[in-house]
Amino acid sequence: MNYRKLGKTGLEVSEVGYGAWGIGQDAWVGATDDESLRALNRAIDLGLNFIDTALAYGEGHSERLVGQVVRERSETVYVATKIPPRNRIWPAPAGLHPDEVFPGDYVRECTERSLDNLGLETIDVQQFHVWQDEWIGEGGWLEAIEELKREGRIRAFGVSINDHQPENALRLIETGVVDTVQVIYNIFDQSPEDALFPACQRQGVGVIVRVPFDEGSLTGNITPETTFKEGDFRNDYFGGERKREVHERVESIISDLGISRDELPEVALRYVLSHPAVSTVIPGMRSVKNVERNMAVGDGRGLPEEQVEKLKAHRWVRDFYSA
Ligand SMILES: NC(=O)c1ccc[n+]([C@@H]2O[C@H](COP(=O)([O-])OP(=O)(O)OC[C@H]3O[C@@H](n4cnc5c(N)ncnc54)[C@H](OP(=O)(O)O)[C@@H]3O)[C@@H](O)[C@H]2O)c1
Repeated sequence: MNYRKLGKTGLEVSEVGYGAWGIGQDAWVGATDDESLRALNRAIDLGLNFIDTALAYGEGHSERLVGQVVRERSETVYVATKIPPRNRIWPAPAGLHPDEVFPGDYVRECTERSLDNLGLETIDVQQFHVWQDEWIGEGGWLEAIEELKREGRIRAFGVSINDHQPENALRLIETGVVDTVQVIYNIFDQSPEDALFPACQRQGVGVIVRVPFDEGSLTGNITPETTFKEGDFRNDYFGGERKREVHERVESIISDLGISRDELPEVALRYVLSHPAVSTVIPGMRSVKNVERNMAVGDGRGLPEEQVEKLKAHRWVRDFYSA
C-alpha cells in the first residue's frame, strides 16, 4: 500500500481509505455486521489506515463498528468522522446563520457522542458534514473547534463539501483554519480539478475523495435492469431514466478506453489517484471481495497519461442527490 500526506496534518494515510457510510445500514440496505467487520479487518490486513465515518451513518452504528475494529487492532488506524448539521438539512442551503447549523455547544456535544461511539480518546479528523463559505467569521463554530483541538479531543478539522459544489470551500481554504476537505471527485464529476485542487495544493490542505464510483455506476454494475432493495437510497439516486443514462455513459467510457467491464472499478480509482492533490480515496466497500480488489489499486501507480486525457471527454456534472 502506498501512503500519502494528508495535507499539513502530519498524518500519512493509505491512498485507498475506507468509506463507512454503507455499513451504517440506513441509506444503504443489505450489509450485515459480520461481513462489514470482516471487510474492515481485511482492509487493515492489506495496509489500509484511514476510515471515514459519520455520526449520522446509522445514528452511530457505523462509528461503533469502526471503533470496535480500530480498538481491536494493533496497527495505527486513523478515523475521520463528521458532525451532522443540527437542522438535518443536507446539503447546507445558503442564507442560514452558522449557529443554526453548527453552534459551538452542539459541535462539542456531537464530538463527545462520536468519541463515545468509537470508544476512542481522540478523533483524528473531525469534519462538518456540510459547509457554506458564507459562515466564515460568523458564529461560534471555530472557537469550539479550536478548543477541542487544544484539549486533544480532535487532531485535525475538515469540512465535507456540499455535493457537486467544490468551489464552496475556496474561501475557507484561504483562511488556513481547515486541515482537510472531503469532496466528490470521479470520472464524471471532474470539477474539483478547476479551482479546488490547486487551492488545496497551495495551502497544504488534505483532500479526501468521496464517491469515486458515483454510488456504483462507475463500477459498471448498474444497468437499466438493476434493482435495489426497498428503502435503499439508490432507488432515488438512480430513479427514472437515470440507470439507462449512466449505463450509456459507462458503455462509452469502456469502448473509448478499450477496456473490459471488469477493469472499470480499477480505472475509476486510478483516475482519482492520478491527481497529485488527492491524499486518499474512500470507496464504500462492504464486502471482502471489493476490499481486496480496491486495495490492490493502492500501489502508487496512476493511470497512463493518455487514458487520463481520454477520460476528460467523459466529464458529466449533474446532481442526482437533490433533484
Ligand atoms: N456528504 C458526505 O460527506 C458523504 C456523502 C457520500 C459519501 N461519503 C463518504 O464517501 C464514501 C464513499 O462513497 P459511497 O460509499 O457512497 O459510494 P461509492 O464509493 O462511489 O460506491 C460504493 C459502491 O461501489 C461498490 N464497489 C466498491 N468497490 C467495488 C469494486 N471493486 N467492484 C465493484 N463494485 C464495487 C460498493 O459495493 P459494496 O459496498 O456492496 O461492497 C458500493 O455499492 C462513503 O462510504 C462515505 O464514507 C460522504
